[in-house]
Amino acid sequence: MGSSVSPLATLGILSIGDMGVGIAKLLSAHQYRVITNAEGRSQSTKDRARNNSIDLVTTDVDLCNQADYILSIVPPRDALGTARRVIDASSNSSFAKRGNPLYFIDLNAISPRSAREINDLFSKSSPDVRLIDGGIIGGPPKRQEDGKWTRPSVVVSGPHRLVDAQPSGKHLAEVLSMKHVNDTIGSATGLKMCFASLSKGFTALAIESFTTAHNLGVTEQLKEHLEQFNPMAAKTAERGLVSMPPKAYRWVREMEEIAETFEADGGFEDDESIFRPIARVYELVANGTELGREVTEDRKRGKTAGDVATLMSEGTQRRKQKTE
Ligand SMILES: *[C@@H]1O[C@H](CO)[C@@H](O)[C@H](O)[C@H]1NC(C)=O
Ligand SMILES: *[C@@H]1O[C@H](CO)[C@@H](O)[C@H](O)[C@H]1NC(C)=O
Ligand SMILES: *[C@@H]1O[C@H](CO)[C@@H](O)[C@H](O)[C@H]1NC(C)=O
Ligand SMILES: *[C@@H]1O[C@H](CO)[C@@H](O)[C@H](O)[C@H]1NC(C)=O
Repeated sequence: MGSSVSPLATLGILSIGDMGVGIAKLLSAHQYRVITNAEGRSQSTKDRARNNSIDLVTTDVDLCNQADYILSIVPPRDALGTARRVIDASSNSSFAKRGNPLYFIDLNAISPRSAREINDLFSKSSPDVRLIDGGIIGGPPKRQEDGKWTRPSVVVSGPHRLVDAQPSGKHLAEVLSMKHVNDTIGSATGLKMCFASLSKGFTALAIESFTTAHNLGVTEQLKEHLEQFNPMAAKTAERGLVSMPPKAYRWVREMEEIAETFEADGGFEDDESIFRPIARVYELVANGTELGREVTEDRKRGKTAGDVATLMSEGTQRRKQKTE
């Protein structure tokens, strides 16, 4: 963005992980100013912000005063805390009177119940801030060689619509590839949960299936039979297993949020709630941080699902020896 061109709007992003940085780049490329508050964070986080044309502010009150819109894109366990930060800042006496209302757009992988809880907090403590509930389906935005952007789908819900917001709400909704799915808070994040359950649930099944096959000495035969009779599963398992270990720690809470979604909004009882044990499977992977590192290294060397199964098997055997 040339410095002579005035931005269409200012967006605050909390925080700037891979998805946050991808969205920040997409926004900067479309003439938006992006800011974040990285106080108390590492120097490399601050450098990362500067490297990606994200301006740093030093307090949450500043963030709220300068931003027209705030995007919350954090690990699921930090979603409520991030909403509270914005509630505190927008209740602070230094939060300035403004022409247009501040929008808080929660894009985290949380259950509809968590989204309703956040909505209740805003209604009670910061009624002038407009909450939009949402979820991101797909990977971070990326500029292709031809200059076009691939972007994830951003599904949103709630009574407030970004297309009606000022400044530039309609344009911003297009840039972010936003789709309003329902006026009820929770339906968009619930849609994200339903979507995520299928891929991440399948990968958890693949962890147990391939680890067990390894112990039985039939990994190659399992692969051969999958390729012949269920080639989609062969491909999905391979891809899921090799990419999962470094993300497993983040998925623990996400699986619990999916479980809560299926219980509270799907009507499933405790003993039907299959995502509680799935969360424990990812916790097991995350606990073996060695595993996460080894597999990431292995991936660079072109290793496979079978290698993940071998490492998982070694992990469960170590645990068994410890408890015996
Ligand atoms: C920021 O950019 C500089 C120069 O391109 C690079 O050396 C540095 O590693 C980058 N830092 C981060 C945290 O991305
Ligand atoms: C309001 O914000 C200022 C500046 O960030 C801070 O110093 C102060 O403690 C805040 N007040 C309250 C009541 O939180
Ligand atoms: C919105 O969701 C509610 C359930 O929460 C449903 O009854 C209603 O039909 C949905 N509205 C639209 C327009 O799809
Ligand atoms: C992971 O580690 C924590 C802390 O040591 C422990 O409480 C938990 O039971 C472990 N989970 C699994 C699935 O091994």
